[in-house]
Amino acid sequence: MTLREKLRLTEGLSAWKTVPVPEEGLESLFMSDGPHGLRMQDFTENIFHQGSKPATCFPTAVSTACSFDTKLLGEIGTAIAEEANEQGADVVLGPGVNIKRNPLCGRNFEYFSEDPYLAGKLAAGFISALQASGIGGCIKHFACNNQENRRMSSNSALDERTLREIYLTAFEIAIKESSPSSVMAAYNLINGEYCPENKMLLTDILRDEWGFEGLVMSDWTAINNRTESLKAGCDLLMPGCHYYMEKEVAKDVKEGKLKKEIIRRAADRVKAWVRKFGKDGEMYKLRPSSCNYDQHHNIAQKAAEQSAVLLKNTDNILPIKPEQTVSAFGRMYTKLRYQGAGSSLINPTKLSQLSEVIKSDGSAAECDIAVIFTGLPDEYESEGFDRTNLRLPPEDIKLIEETAAVNPNTVVVLFAGGVVETPWIDKVKAVLYMGLPGQAGAEAVKNLLYGFANPCGRLAETWCMEYADTPSADTYGAKNAVYKEGIYVGYRYYEKNAITVRFPFGHGLSYTEFEYSKLTVTNDTVSVRIKNVGNRAGGEAVLMYVAAPENTTLDRPVRELKGFTKVFLEQSAETVVKFTLEPRSFAVWQGKWVIPGGIYTIQIGNQTAEIAVEGDTFAPITYTIPAYDDFPKRPGEFTLNDTPDELAASSLFCKSFCTITEKILLHKTGGVKNNQFHMMYACSVLGPLRATIQAGGISSELANALVDSANGKHIDSAEHLMDLFVAKLKKS
Ligand code: BGC
Repeated sequence: MTLREKLRLTEGLSAWKTVPVPEEGLESLFMSDGPHGLRMQDFTENIFHQGSKPATCFPTAVSTACSFDTKLLGEIGTAIAEEANEQGADVVLGPGVNIKRNPLCGRNFEYFSEDPYLAGKLAAGFISALQASGIGGCIKHFACNNQENRRMSSNSALDERTLREIYLTAFEIAIKESSPSSVMAAYNLINGEYCPENKMLLTDILRDEWGFEGLVMSDWTAINNRTESLKAGCDLLMPGCHYYMEKEVAKDVKEGKLKKEIIRRAADRVKAWVRKFGKDGEMYKLRPSSCNYDQHHNIAQKAAEQSAVLLKNTDNILPIKPEQTVSAFGRMYTKLRYQGAGSSLINPTKLSQLSEVIKSDGSAAECDIAVIFTGLPDEYESEGFDRTNLRLPPEDIKLIEETAAVNPNTVVVLFAGGVVETPWIDKVKAVLYMGLPGQAGAEAVKNLLYGFANPCGRLAETWCMEYADTPSADTYGAKNAVYKEGIYVGYRYYEKNAITVRFPFGHGLSYTEFEYSKLTVTNDTVSVRIKNVGNRAGGEAVLMYVAAPENTTLDRPVRELKGFTKVFLEQSAETVVKFTLEPRSFAVWQGKWVIPGGIYTIQIGNQTAEIAVEGDTFAPITYTIPAYDDFPKRPGEFTLNDTPDELAASSLFCKSFCTITEKILLHKTGGVKNNQFHMMYACSVLGPLRATIQAGGISSELANALVDSANGKHIDSAEHLMDLFVAKLKKS
């Protein structure tokens, strides 16, 4: 292969395929989004997220995380692999393991947890199963991609200990335990460096330290400088076919700024990836021989049932007894919100509405029980933009309050991809949180409400009393996002500062009861006995926390999750659950992983036990957040890395561009500012121009004309426009 051909190989052929290498017998490898179901777009080749082949829509990660069940994630992984194989996808772009730093993040529905151990283990369960069926996984978005606001140009500024202990751990666990075929480098910068250009991240940590041997690809349009990203270890630019910076890379090679070996290395990794995970590749023989969509619907239903969290159940109002009359209503009763939006949007194989499976007997005042199906409407949360608050729509709050005033047995069923404030909670008897339960959500809700299924989920994220209580409330969403709360994210923050929360991490009720006893620690083995002492069968997520000794010289969380498992027990049945303690159960990052010695406490349910741990000798490091110069804003300083809305203040031309773009987008969405509109607006008006070029949304001439105009170089700007005009004329 010539150097040019090798370079071609390091960019996609299209939105979803790699460039084929017929002389080496390599067909294009096909990628598809798919953390909670497949989104095959082969027929449109369209980067935007509309129209895909029908596939099973499983509950999203916000739900499945609450299952605390790696086996369940494995079942979903296997089912998705079967569909991927049947539909022709070789690699599934998921799962996403970014930490829920702040509950406003519009993409939290697609992520597992505020806790890295939980996120990492669940992701490993999913990836292992997917790859055992011959389909590659792609863990994303590496790393610190924790807000959607200006996600393509925001900088996550954080100290090294926080990076290691909170934001990299989930990736580390999943990569070491399940060897995903690929890693997707995120859009954002970390401490001033774009993730795809971050050698420390993509090579020093990922490959040299963790032993990753697969492929690194960019998130879609995430590449800033192609030469720098190749050097850092980002092997594949996605999507493809725009030959982004190909000329510049060739020039850099000529001038000795980029070694040819680096291009060869990236091309070799692409080929090795295709050889392993592509059609007829090494893993191909593992691919399943059948795919049963009805069976997958049942798995989706089981997953929704086992991920639901019963938040409140006063007087055991739930389950509903067969003889009780029920008034059922609310915005989700006839229009279920079962998934998020953006690149993970699935075209479900089937879908029932709650109104089809749960009958309503009359008005709320007349019935024994009033059930309100409510939650966040589609336009409240999506990939591409953040939420503005944690409240339910005002009319829904009013409905809850008015219903509770006429019926003392009011039950609320919530559908939302993240935390919602519940100031009305004392007025209702029960709350069942479904997350975004996937295409079988309605059937699952029916079974849960009527007791055919027993809730067994636990919250994978703390529910605060109000948004102002959250650790990053005052700084979240800024373009320069300073992670000043450090390691104190989620429960680590609330527990350390003794802040009252609405529902803690790990909260979840059941229709039965479990008794914990006999917690023992022998060497590195922890065991505890669990008995179902209630009156029906049920599942129990068992969580093991490790609490560090108080006399340590280091600042540490009150306790951290270091083990979990899920058990299902018949009435009166009991079992012994075992966990293994590992060095990392006690370790902190101090330039390397070290163990502060002392007496640690193991906590499982209401049981505790102590263990003496011999420590390492080390001198504690005081970490600081690197200062980062803010982004250029004045005329003369604008580049293709800036966004049209940032340029608008300095140029009427740019301002008009923003206005016209908004009008075009509104036209595309039929005049409504729905989540599709917000997402496209975020990509085009609030996204850097170089990304829009890579997406094929704007020509580089027009982008440069905008930048020159904002920089006050009006003649240069006009020249670019002229070039564009001439090019268009030639084409026509
Ligand atoms: C998302 C990725 C996704 C990709 C392809 C990007 O906008 O961030 O998660 O895999 O699009 O659809």
